[in-house]
Amino acid sequence: MDDKAGKPQAGLSTPPSRIRSVFLIGFMGAGKTSVGRALSQRLGWEFIDLDERIQDRRGRSIEEIFEQSGESGFREVEHSSLKDLVAESDAPPRVVALGGGAYIQTSNAELLARNGMTVIFLDAPVEELFRRCRQEKAIRPLRRDIEHFRDLYEKRRPTYAKADLILDTNGKTIESLAEELLKRLGLS
Ligand code: S3P
Repeated sequence: MDDKAGKPQAGLSTPPSRIRSVFLIGFMGAGKTSVGRALSQRLGWEFIDLDERIQDRRGRSIEEIFEQSGESGFREVEHSSLKDLVAESDAPPRVVALGGGAYIQTSNAELLARNGMTVIFLDAPVEELFRRCRQEKAIRPLRRDIEHFRDLYEKRRPTYAKADLILDTNGKTIESLAEELLKRLGLS
C-alpha cells in the first residue's frame, strides 16, 4: 500500500548493510525523541537528539535561543550543529532525532541526502500532535494555538513526505513503533 505522497509503506530500498545513520523527522509531538531512543536501544546504536545537543553545547535552552536570537538565529545554530554531526564521519551508525523545523530548511535536507543518510518521517493527525505537545513539559516557541499549529503542519507536511520512509504513529505505542521501524529498515 502507498501513502498519500506515494511513499511505499513497506520497506526501505537501501540494503541494511548500507544504512549509515537514521534520522527521525516530523512535526512537534511526532515522537521523534521517544521512538528514536527505543530504536537506538534495540539496535545498540548511540542516540542523539539534535536540540539536546544544541542546548548542551551552547549552554542555552531552545527557548532562550529563540528569545535572544530569533528563529533565524536558531536556524543558523541548528544548521551548523547538524553539519558538525554529519561531519563526524568516523562515528558508527547512530539514530538522530531532529527538531520539527530542521528538515524544512533545504540546506539541511540536502546535507542529509548528499551524505546518504536514511530519513524517516513520523506522522500523526495534527490534533493528536497538538494534544501530545500539551502533555509534554517541553516549551516549544512555535506551538501557539491550534490554528497556527495546523497551518504550519500543513505547510511542512509535503516536505516531510520526501523522507525515505513514512511511519504513521497514530494509536501505536513507542515500543511497537520501534519494532515496526526495525522491520521496515530490514534491521530486525
Ligand atoms: C521546532 C521544533 C522543536 C524545536 C524548536 C523548533 C519547529 O523541536 O526544534 O522549538 O520548528 O518545529 P521538536 O520537534 O522536538 O518539538
